[in-house]
Amino acid sequence: MSSNLAATGDTPVYDTPAYDYRVVRQFTIMTVVWGVVGMAVGVLIAAQLYWPALNDLLQPYSHFGRLRPLHTNAVIFAFGGCALFATSYYVVQRTCQAPLFGGFLVPFTFWGWQIVILAAAITLPMGYTSAKEYAELEWPIDILITLVWVSYAIVFFGTIIKRKTSHIYVANWFFGAFIIAVAMLHVVNSAAVPVTLFKSYSAYAGAADAMVQWWYGHNAVGFFLTAGFLGMMYYFVPKQAGRPVYSYQLSIVHFWALISLYIWAGPHHLHYSALPDWAQSLGMVMSLVLLAPSWGGMINGIMTLSGAWHKLRTDPTLRFLVVSLSFYGMSTFEGPMMSIKTVNALSHNTDWTVGHVHSGALGWVAMISIGAVYHLLPVLYNRKEMFSVKLINTHFWLATVGTVLYIASMWVNGIMQGLMWRAFNADGTLTYTFVESVEASGPGYFVRVLGGAFFLLGMLLMMYNCYRTVAAPEDEAAAPAQPQPAQ
Ligand code: HEM
Ligand code: HEM
Repeated sequence: MSSNLAATGDTPVYDTPAYDYRVVRQFTIMTVVWGVVGMAVGVLIAAQLYWPALNDLLQPYSHFGRLRPLHTNAVIFAFGGCALFATSYYVVQRTCQAPLFGGFLVPFTFWGWQIVILAAAITLPMGYTSAKEYAELEWPIDILITLVWVSYAIVFFGTIIKRKTSHIYVANWFFGAFIIAVAMLHVVNSAAVPVTLFKSYSAYAGAADAMVQWWYGHNAVGFFLTAGFLGMMYYFVPKQAGRPVYSYQLSIVHFWALISLYIWAGPHHLHYSALPDWAQSLGMVMSLVLLAPSWGGMINGIMTLSGAWHKLRTDPTLRFLVVSLSFYGMSTFEGPMMSIKTVNALSHNTDWTVGHVHSGALGWVAMISIGAVYHLLPVLYNRKEMFSVKLINTHFWLATVGTVLYIASMWVNGIMQGLMWRAFNADGTLTYTFVESVEASGPGYFVRVLGGAFFLLGMLLMMYNCYRTVAAPEDEAAAPAQPQPAQ
């Protein structure tokens, strides 16, 4: 057994049970498709902020206010969601040495999730929204999400229960926490009173509504955009590097510390609001403490490369995985800093927040998913490798340069906006009007369009590379074409 197999508890080829790869393939392909769609909408709304006339393309459907939630839902839940379904279904089978549990529930999670995405793509541009960020979808779609999620939990935990290994590999702990927490967050935050088929009102009011919303919002970051992707990290980084995970003990400490701290940090989104001051301070302190487990996880991932650093020179897939960890470290350093009330007084409502979001979203979430897809696709389709490693390399540079252009321009814009808004003249009047701060943001918005276009171009190359890989003839020697029955 090679060292990385030992590290992940993964199945050696000679006793591969009949894994269910069909659903993994479906989710993997849709990760790429929704990635391109969601990021294309991202580039469009970025362009609208620089060329406002683009809002009028197809009024009222093309308005920024309607396309922005379409972008966030498409990239987080369609692109990120499909990547999480694909990788968790793959990893849980391989590390438990058991095929997926749940029968018809397995395809139901795929088709149900695609229907949710299509329903979002239709209703959001039409203006149907609950107006809660990252939970905009109206109540009938929320109910479908709940059904899909419960099925997902049954499939995932059913497979864990049926496992043939004695231990549960750490990646599954992270995937499991992500599935349970997202179920809880979604059900509590989406509680609403429907008035028509397309309109409902939140079950909460005032400051309590805001608190529930940001308890949800921040934990959507903590569990959807972080814990799930850490699960991905703990499997694909050791696999691609061919090294055991640096410290299994650290991964367990990382897990418990992360999940017990994240849940308290939500109030940092509500500094200087009507929320009681003690709750704001609690959110700040918990966010600061969160730096430790976040960096513990990052270091664990990066140190997994000990003895394999040379592979970075020739393996662009590994580069995606490792650079994603650097961005994870960067955004989880920046986040705790922004949660300090005095720093937040400058950063809140400025483009600094948007820059922070995308250093996590592009640098961490998208890059680790892209690395995982490049690792997965040849395995799933029995190909020796991706059609073109050169194209993966070009993609890597486009994605890295695109991310840096995006976040650097938003840092400059954000700090400038914060400083302009708080500048006073000697007589107490504002030094700058709001419009002046918008005008001054123009160059930054242009650089962001450029960065976004770089990232999108990389995604289009990926789509082509994936297409050519799947279209290529099967490689008999790459993997067992017909998995052996379970032993
Ligand atoms: C080509 C890549 C992308 C571009 C050009 C892009 C562009 C944008 C733009 C222009 C906004 C609106 C900012 C504003 O309201 O001022 C936005 C918001 C957002 N995007 Fe992206 N985006 C991209 C990729 C992604 C990805 C991959 C994710 C997540 C995985 C993501 C998550 C978000 C989130 C969460 C927000 C809301 C931010 C906030 O409320 O502060 N984006 N994006
Ligand atoms: C230790 C980890 C982190 C902490 C303490 C943290 C903290 C913060 C803070 C203080 C804000 C600004 C709130 C405001 O002024 O409105 C924020 C916004 C945000 N962060 Fe983080 N962050 C962390 C990691 C991440 C990561 C890894 C991601 C993405 C993968 C992310 C995604 C977001 C999003 C989407 C928002 C914008 C929410 C909105 O206003 O719509 N964060 N975060």
